[in-house]
Amino acid sequence: MTASSRAPGKIILSGEHFVVLGAPAVAMAVNLYSKIEVRPSQSGQIEVTADIPLHLVSKADKRPPASEKQELLEPLRLAAKATLDHIESRDRSLHLDASCQIPIGAGLGSSASTTVATISAVAKSRGAKLDRRGIFKLAFIPENYLHGKPSGIDQATCIYGGIIQFRKPSSIKALNVKRPPSILVCDSGVHRSTKALVGSVVKRSQKQIGRFQRHIDEITTISNAVIKALRSEDDLELGLLMNRNHELLRQIGVSTPGLDGLVAEARKAGALGAKLTGAGGGGCIIALVDDDKIRSNVARKLRKKGGTLYNVSLDPKGVE
Ligand code: PMV
Repeated sequence: MTASSRAPGKIILSGEHFVVLGAPAVAMAVNLYSKIEVRPSQSGQIEVTADIPLHLVSKADKRPPASEKQELLEPLRLAAKATLDHIESRDRSLHLDASCQIPIGAGLGSSASTTVATISAVAKSRGAKLDRRGIFKLAFIPENYLHGKPSGIDQATCIYGGIIQFRKPSSIKALNVKRPPSILVCDSGVHRSTKALVGSVVKRSQKQIGRFQRHIDEITTISNAVIKALRSEDDLELGLLMNRNHELLRQIGVSTPGLDGLVAEARKAGALGAKLTGAGGGGCIIALVDDDKIRSNVARKLRKKGGTLYNVSLDPKGVE
């Protein structure tokens, strides 16, 4: 049987990296989507093809495109296999075709979005019903392969949509806000490995226990305050919290001069707050812009600095 599913990308408003160490984080699903279509395969085995914008993958990576592409497709094959195993389907004839609007390796959840959509589409193609918790659990299989130590926040956001507060291992609280924050996303164009960045932070946290505990305590306060600011539509406060969160990420070494430059430029152009989003080391920053004039001014300045702008809005639904 044929089937299809789509899932949104995501941005993290507070708590990336520290969420891996146990702090709460806040994330928002955004209207950039991946789509998975599933049909029976010719070979009778699991086949994966994808329209992946490989030019967006990495400026620094010198590996040949074929092996790079294979590496990007493997999580989707793993997600499909895990789903068939889970629903005890012995029929492996499955061709999976992925298309993705989300830039790869940029901190916007491309891998979680494609794997979540894969799990959903594969289950549908076999007439099986998987609830959100079921998809969340299965998504750890491909996410573990790709990330090493994923907290689960990426897949949770892509599955549930909207804004969520997440805490390891599986606390997912949906937040209903009347007015979602107005966010600009700017991609630095330097893409990187989440696995390496998360690994280096975890290693450092094991050596500098006291210092990281203080950071975790502060991020816990920040994430709780972010929820409060979103509920009360207090953009000034939300901006200040984003700025402080960026400073902590800078202190643990996951920002770069390029990201710091984009963040500073966004603030100078009128953003109420700005921070890197996701694993850092490159990838994207987000800026909070409270009116249209400031939004276009910030966008223009960031473009001048070489960034690629994404005008995102909240995705309320998650995977469907
Ligand atoms: O893969 P990214 O860049 O979207 O980062 C995900 C957020 C991290 O906290 C860095 C990792 C995780 O699994 O929570």
